[in-house]
Amino acid sequence: MSDLDIPQDPAFAVHLNGSGGAIKGWVVVDSLYDGLAMGGTRMTTGVTEAEVAGLARDMTHKFTLAGLRIGGAKAGIVSDGSDREETFKTFGRTVKPLLHGGIHLGIDMGVTPADRAVFFQEAGYDPRFRLGAPDMPIDWRTYYEPLIDCTGHGVGVAAVTALEESGRTESARVVVQGFGAVGRAVARFLEDRGHVIVGVADVEGTISAERLPVADLVAITDEFGRIDRSRLPAEVRLDSGPDAWLDVDADLLILAAQKNALNAENVHRLRAYLVVEGGNLSSDAEAKEKARAAGATLVPGVIANIGGAASAALAVTRTVPFELAAEARKAWVFDWVGDRVRRNTRDLLEIAAASAGDPLPELLAIRREERR
Ligand SMILES: NC(=O)c1ccc[n+]([C@@H]2O[C@H](COP(=O)([O-])OP(=O)(O)OC[C@H]3O[C@@H](n4cnc5c(N)ncnc54)[C@H](O)[C@@H]3O)[C@@H](O)[C@H]2O)c1
Repeated sequence: MSDLDIPQDPAFAVHLNGSGGAIKGWVVVDSLYDGLAMGGTRMTTGVTEAEVAGLARDMTHKFTLAGLRIGGAKAGIVSDGSDREETFKTFGRTVKPLLHGGIHLGIDMGVTPADRAVFFQEAGYDPRFRLGAPDMPIDWRTYYEPLIDCTGHGVGVAAVTALEESGRTESARVVVQGFGAVGRAVARFLEDRGHVIVGVADVEGTISAERLPVADLVAITDEFGRIDRSRLPAEVRLDSGPDAWLDVDADLLILAAQKNALNAENVHRLRAYLVVEGGNLSSDAEAKEKARAAGATLVPGVIANIGGAASAALAVTRTVPFELAAEARKAWVFDWVGDRVRRNTRDLLEIAAASAGDPLPELLAIRREERR
């Protein structure tokens, strides 16, 4: 199948108005594979249908690249999170037919495991059971929650693979933008492998030093990824300027925060020769092109940050060997994700070396053929 055969429109998109209550939102099913699709649920005040559609397309790309036999979807709810119990009950009633019909909706920005439990319960949906599929022998949380660092693990594997492929053998100086679940796990992964974290940014600004001790920073970071400035180690520099993480002298930049963090306006400040996207849609198209033209290498999120989505899809498609004990099962999932990320990173860089444009469409076309 050639690239031109990919439909530009999603398989379907539905507006959510609410059942037994009012909500505003959308579910976009970008693609279906054997009647199945999945993706997270995002709840922010500014989420739009176009944003949900873009994220659903990214899910299709992630699963295609990973060789998972499931389509991409995403849900969005417009809300500031007040009265969340009622919002998620209404959401659960509204998306009940989708959940039971093979559209698995999980967690994304602004939605917690507790919120997911509310909408699963209200919909009477338990992903352990699906018509025509073997039952999962363990419940969803027992399976999924120990895998919290899986996304960071994959992003770390992408970074290490790209560093190796660059031929530079010395340890890299790394700046991590975003110190949430993903940023913290990547920082630990890279430090454990001998790289030096020289900068870390959260929503309040950028912290830098010749060497930042990751464990000490993690210890003073709250559940929202905010670092307590009153307890910082001595001799760190603080910069609250916009995008100050771009000014830190580093070889490798990990983007693990908001959408379009790297964009057409700030990309000229990029100092790192390698950028790995830990977040979704972390850089806009123009920034990607300009970074490439300036000689930097960029590994996109659809390759690097598949850990969370892939580990959920491995369960929904019943690919995981559930009979393994907890630790062995976790190691199996981490290895599976690491292997896919490594292979995709290597192949992307090989295509990039042979052509001037964006290498992703060619890699997607190859993986689409393989998955058929
Ligand atoms: N958690 C996952 O498994 C997963 C999987 C795939 C993609 N993602 C994406 O990765 C990104 C990070 O996810 P997370 O789970 O770590 O989120 P999180 O909410 O745990 O942490 C976000 C971090 O980014 C920081 N941040 C927010 N705005 C910022 C700004 N303007 N400048 C600098 N830092 C800023 C926050 O302070 C926090 O440290 C999101 O885009 C998310 O959608 C997450």
